[in-house]
Amino acid sequence: MKVVSGSASVRLAKELARILPADLIVAEVRAFADGELHVRVSDGVAGEDVALVQTTYPNDKLLELFLLQDALADAAPSRVTVVVPYFGYGRQDKRFQPGEAISSRAIAKRLEIGADALLTVDVHNGGVMDYFDIPALDITGMPALARRFGELGVEMVLAPDENAARHAETVGGLIKMPWDYLKKERLDSWTVETEVKALPVKGRCVAIVDDVVSTGGTMVSAARIVQEQGSRGVVAGCVHGLFVGGAKERLQAFDEVVATDTVSSDYSVVSVAPEVAQGLQKLG
Ligand code: R5P
Repeated sequence: MKVVSGSASVRLAKELARILPADLIVAEVRAFADGELHVRVSDGVAGEDVALVQTTYPNDKLLELFLLQDALADAAPSRVTVVVPYFGYGRQDKRFQPGEAISSRAIAKRLEIGADALLTVDVHNGGVMDYFDIPALDITGMPALARRFGELGVEMVLAPDENAARHAETVGGLIKMPWDYLKKERLDSWTVETEVKALPVKGRCVAIVDDVVSTGGTMVSAARIVQEQGSRGVVAGCVHGLFVGGAKERLQAFDEVVATDTVSSDYSVVSVAPEVAQGLQKLG
């Protein structure tokens, strides 16, 4: 197998190639003066089983992925599995109002072109996988967070909203600690309100887990509730750390922020490469 990496996922692709093991090819990517992208996969992949790894955040990385798929299509690999560590637009998986695009579906349909299979990590809504007509697997990066929480001595796992309850349950199960969830209401992109709930957090180190951290508003709102009830420490954990618009400042409320390498950032302290390697084996 050859692992071909786009510019957004070099860290994860390197680790994946080490674990498999496989040869790593980092695609050449540059921008023309007008911002248009030029991509090239210069090493031969003819007859090879290829895992193309490229996350889709921010937007131009998605476009880069489409171009990389095109580059591979003419290079005669025996098989291409597209590994999308973070499936952007996963939150627009349906039409909430008349006239809207179903963004997840549009992207799934484009990604299928030139792909034999697709693997992604913690897509926001699992229903997105039904948009694929090729074998498509959604794996979870929660075990990667659990590995770090174990080292940190986390004693309770909390989801900041009902959607994330299944993640807290998974992580709690892995580190053998209790878990619970909060209820939140989103007021706008930047503001959420979290319902106060009595929790057995006094004197405990609590990890708050979510699939995505974007502005950090959800995490901070949950942390406030835990801290007001006397927690000993509070850790933020997410698979996909986007950290937009002041998130880093907001997250100073935490003792540690743990993110995976599905989106590369200063907080990417754990890797989902072992889970991706297992997922590739499952896809065959
Ligand atoms: C939404 O349901 C997601 O799971 C996250 O809770 C949300 O995307 C986090 O956004 P933010 O960090 O902006 O509050």
